[in-house]
Amino acid sequence: MNGLMNTLVMSHLGHNRLSTAFPTSQPQETDLILATYPKSGTTWLKALIFAIVTRTTYPLTENPLLFNSPHELVPFLEFGLYHNNPSPDLEGIPKPRIFSTHMPYTALPTSIFDSKCRVVYICRNPWDQLVSFWHFSTSAAKRWSTEYSISLDETLDMFCRGVISFGPFWDHVLGYWKASQGMPNKVLFLKYEDLKEDIMGQTKLLAQFLGFPFSVEEEGGGVVEEVSRLCSFENLKELEVNKTGKLSSGRDKSAFFRKAEVGDWSNYLTPPMAEKMKKLIQEKFEGSGLMF
Ligand code: A3P
Repeated sequence: MNGLMNTLVMSHLGHNRLSTAFPTSQPQETDLILATYPKSGTTWLKALIFAIVTRTTYPLTENPLLFNSPHELVPFLEFGLYHNNPSPDLEGIPKPRIFSTHMPYTALPTSIFDSKCRVVYICRNPWDQLVSFWHFSTSAAKRWSTEYSISLDETLDMFCRGVISFGPFWDHVLGYWKASQGMPNKVLFLKYEDLKEDIMGQTKLLAQFLGFPFSVEEEGGGVVEEVSRLCSFENLKELEVNKTGKLSSGRDKSAFFRKAEVGDWSNYLTPPMAEKMKKLIQEKFEGSGLMF
């Protein structure tokens, strides 16, 4: 088992940090790390961060996002780079390097905090996250023609027990939330619903945090709109590169684009299911200053 996966397992057992970073490489000051709980807007943020930091390298009409899945341009540390490879070559990646992870905050290596690299976190309301996760899991089972399938009831039960990929939702979100409160220049905490409501404002905020703010000329010239449009669900979903083919993980690229609606959960969760989650979420987030 490689170092990062070790970190993951340790995090679930005892929330211990490893002192070494990426096992074979150290974070660089310019590194940008996107952390998310699965199905919370990872694909969207990968696209936005990539488009923001490369907007002067490529004209937006020729951006690599038009020809590559966001998951190919911004790899996961644990699934992509370190999967089956204990020492990937990270030094050759152009700066700023953008990585992504689903690891909980408590599992991030200390070297990330010793370096000036920045962490962006996006969370999503747990009802939509759960429904999105369930669709993703069941559609994968169908595609792989396995016997494995899981009902929404079972998925809810796993969610409520916290026995689910990358640990309990509340631990994951609160870990990054508290970090963002204590270290606002280090960790930016975003919400999927806020991006849906005000993509322009949130794109500017993100660019500022990343150290790539939009200039007055860019704002006047409509660059913020162009970046937002390039990364929009409607645009990305219809690109040939996101409609066909598989990622190296075996996942269909199209599986990352479903409906992207806020409140879609009400089409799937019964009132008692939604209420059960509400009680749990209220209990877990009470006093944190974060509510859904
Ligand atoms: P739904 O299943 O509710 O449609 P992740 O990227 O973390 O795996 O999350 C996937 C969810 O984000 C899916 O939600 C997907 O449709 C939505 N999504 C993907 N790309 C998006 C984009 N550019 N803008 C908004 N939502 C997006």
